[in-house]
Amino acid sequence: MCGIIGFAGREEAAPILLDGLARMEYRGYDSAGIAVRSNQWGLQAKKSRGRLERLYELTHGGKDLDGPLGIGHTRWATHGEPNDCNAHPHISEDGRIALVHNGIIENYMEIKEKLIREGVRFASETDTEVAVQLLAYYYKQCGSMLEAVGKVLHRIEGSYAFGIICADYPNALIAARKDSPLILGFGEKGNFIASDVTAILKYTRDVIYMEDGEIAVITADSIDVFDQEFTPIEKKVNKIEWDVSAAEKGGYAHFMFKEILEQPEAIRKTIAPRIRDGKIIFDNFLITPEELKNLSRIYIIACGSAYHVGAICKYTWEKLLRRPVEVCLASEFRYSDPLVDKNTLAIIISQSGETLDSMAALREAKRLGARTLAIVNVVGSSIAREADQVLYTWAGPEIAVATTKAYSTQLILMDLIGLYLGDLLNTISKEDYQIILRQIETLPEKMRACLSKLDDAQYLASRHFNHNSIFFIGRNLDYAMGLEGSLKLKEISYIHSEAYASGELKHGTISLIEPGTLVIALGTYHALFDKAMSNVVEVKARGAEVLAITTESYRERMEKIADDTISVPDVHPILQPSLGIIPLQLFAYYVALQRGCDIDKPRNLAKSVTVE
Ligand code: AGP
Repeated sequence: MCGIIGFAGREEAAPILLDGLARMEYRGYDSAGIAVRSNQWGLQAKKSRGRLERLYELTHGGKDLDGPLGIGHTRWATHGEPNDCNAHPHISEDGRIALVHNGIIENYMEIKEKLIREGVRFASETDTEVAVQLLAYYYKQCGSMLEAVGKVLHRIEGSYAFGIICADYPNALIAARKDSPLILGFGEKGNFIASDVTAILKYTRDVIYMEDGEIAVITADSIDVFDQEFTPIEKKVNKIEWDVSAAEKGGYAHFMFKEILEQPEAIRKTIAPRIRDGKIIFDNFLITPEELKNLSRIYIIACGSAYHVGAICKYTWEKLLRRPVEVCLASEFRYSDPLVDKNTLAIIISQSGETLDSMAALREAKRLGARTLAIVNVVGSSIAREADQVLYTWAGPEIAVATTKAYSTQLILMDLIGLYLGDLLNTISKEDYQIILRQIETLPEKMRACLSKLDDAQYLASRHFNHNSIFFIGRNLDYAMGLEGSLKLKEISYIHSEAYASGELKHGTISLIEPGTLVIALGTYHALFDKAMSNVVEVKARGAEVLAITTESYRERMEKIADDTISVPDVHPILQPSLGIIPLQLFAYYVALQRGCDIDKPRNLAKSVTVE
């Protein structure tokens, strides 16, 4: 996902812009650039394909661009391949306006053709360049940059977070947002715009979250926000409570490894505020007990790993609530003509709270009358603000593109909510409620026990990092957990892998199993352990090598047939995936390490996908 930074201040902007872009590298990008309003040269811009190091070289660490006002961008290509020309900022034909953009202008081609007919010449293949050329076109007509921005926003369709500077305005930058996140920051050295908090946390903790349709004018001493009719809007200034170190690597080789190790503490921070005197407490929960009893349907809607949390909750919540629970990919939900009414509870799970597919699903569910609950990690994010209620995971900033601690905290928070609702519905006994709750409280220490076995995962990764394809097989909760284990491996090691319900293997996919195929067999769900064992025998009979994940109490039985076995502490079946996922995260990490992959910033991926 693209990253935007802008600065209007009392010192050179370029080094600050480059520093802010470096703090957003984790979002994923393929090119980067900055533009500064120079007292001497009007506008100066430098941009290039590839990593930020190249931009640092091109600008000598920013020293080549002078001036206290500027914008910067890391691009995750949507329209137009990654190259120097398509990188942002995009400059108007007359060289007077620079613009950066996160989002997609859906009617860009129609506008581009019109501007070409008016004689405008384009330098790039991007949709974004249409915005800056259209802005220049309107600016020439009306002579006011703010008014011209308003005209552009009325003319374009799609999603945007814009940062804009103009050679004629030496002290002000303009920002606008619709669907793509943008925050405004009040700093001592000057004021900021940014796609997310990590870019400017070093400079300020006081931020404004822009809403859709808002326009802002930022100078070194002021931030003014307007609606699209230029009516001033009073905005709340939020205090960011994160500690800066949480967004730093802290001596670890990769953010992903640091965040895997942070999971016990992240879990503790997520559950602690919600358990008091042996009871789960959700103050002012969205759904009353009466409404809960009348719920027609529960949807869990998400993408990627967040969807895999939902896949686990399908099993656990139906056990706890004895109600149907439907898990949907957000990108599918919105186009599936879903059965939603006012008695539907729609739960949107999203680490970033900015995933466009999940945001669109949230809006569709609300439009159809559902009550909406968001499970989000980034405080103040768009999904958090648009849902009827938000329950935050307290994982802290997650920088690695491949989620680990956010996934784990989403899962445990959903376990808490499921237990809470089951208790409200009296569909679980008080005894089971207490047993599970007590085990939830001991999870952090059990996770630490799993994390103490780094050597097992590292050794197995050293033996298996050269496969072309790896299969994860499991039943019930193990299958759902395998979905996440497979994605972790795929997204950071680039090895093809798939998770299969092991009972399904014989219906086709077993034809792919041949001598030497690596199968990761998940056997932590005791109720179906014998079935899982028979599936291990099936694949072994066809020459597969089996790495098994099971619990300590079943280790001895598994070791009889698997080639290698990693075991995790025994907990209640509903909680077992929270432990079983840890060796899978570690295995993926060490395989990617062995393969020399870019673990924190895997190719083609972004930390949050704010495009469809
Ligand atoms: C997970 O490792 C991936 N980074 C990706 O699947 C991610 O879970 C998905 O894009 C959803 O992101 P969100 O939780 O921020 O909505």
